[in-house]
Amino acid sequence: MSFPNEQVETQGRSNLPPVVDPISALDRAISETPAAVAAVDSLEGLAMLESTLLGKESALGEVRRRMGQLDPVDRPKIGAKLNEAAEVINALLTARRAELEAEDEGRRVREESIDVTLQAITFPSGSLHLIQQTIDEVVDIFVALGYRVASGPEAELAWYNFDALNTPSTHPSRLESDTMYLDWGDPDDEVLLRTHTSPVQARWMEQHEPPVYIVVPGRSYRTDTIDATHLPVFHQIEGLAVDTDINFGDLRGTLLHFAREFFGPQSTVRMRPHFFPFTEPSAELDVSCFACDGGEPGCRVCGGSGWVELLGCGMVDPNVLEAVGYDPAQLTGFAFGMGVERLAMVRHGIETVRHFIDNDIRFLEQF
Ligand code: PHE
Repeated sequence: MSFPNEQVETQGRSNLPPVVDPISALDRAISETPAAVAAVDSLEGLAMLESTLLGKESALGEVRRRMGQLDPVDRPKIGAKLNEAAEVINALLTARRAELEAEDEGRRVREESIDVTLQAITFPSGSLHLIQQTIDEVVDIFVALGYRVASGPEAELAWYNFDALNTPSTHPSRLESDTMYLDWGDPDDEVLLRTHTSPVQARWMEQHEPPVYIVVPGRSYRTDTIDATHLPVFHQIEGLAVDTDINFGDLRGTLLHFAREFFGPQSTVRMRPHFFPFTEPSAELDVSCFACDGGEPGCRVCGGSGWVELLGCGMVDPNVLEAVGYDPAQLTGFAFGMGVERLAMVRHGIETVRHFIDNDIRFLEQF
């Protein structure tokens, strides 16, 4: 079989091999396609092969283009062969495309998946300093009783640190040997680093109507040389309750509750007379030793006495109420102040206050 005007047709397109026998050309295309398709290993390659096998320049394209020139008698047979070839080649291409797409998908899943069993890059997580943890714990105990949390400046007027708290100008704690002054000399305008958190009592009462129930955690400063029990910068928590009918029993009951919450339900407290300028009467509060349960000789916490000294407290001096504009005939109150470092040391058996400022991770990570 041959195309009648084959010579004419191919003259201008000498790059195309003349299709001498369309049927055998199509058969060859059919038989060569499986190997060609199998040899392709990418979707891009397959797209190129598709145009090679089915495009204008392919054997199929060539036959299709010349259909019109065929002898009408041969056309149905060649047409059928052409369809068969197209179907076979298309089926092979489609099957291979599905394979390659599956491979691609598999590769993407492998490349993009995360191995959740791999050791992650982590940074060691820190924790709150024991001092902050202790503050939080004490504050929580009082907040649960309805107290509010107050704060005030660390650089304080001497007025709030001393005078408003009934501390006379001759009191020894006002000397530069005890107190760090930022501005010293003019008694009306002296600025110092507060020596306790008590000035916040006066500041709060000046700004708020009674009743008052506050706790005041914060830093305090004293001219102390560092040793096992002293730091020039340390922490206190102040407490103040002022209301119409507050008595010494309320103070004792409140502090007993605190001791039992902080040191354990078996705790008891005792009060020893003491003196503070801003409370009258004043006391020091001891808590029963939680480590030895009462007077074990050489106990590491109480030293054998059975009691641990904890804080200073007392009934708010009427002069303090007056200084802030409260009426001492209507109101009474109690106040207490505790050292946070001391609380933490007693509770955790820490033998020197230096540990709190050394920043030794081996100490810090124990809490
Ligand atoms: N401010 C006192 C101190 O620093 C403690 C204290 C507070 C005592 C409140 C009585 C009442 O030692």
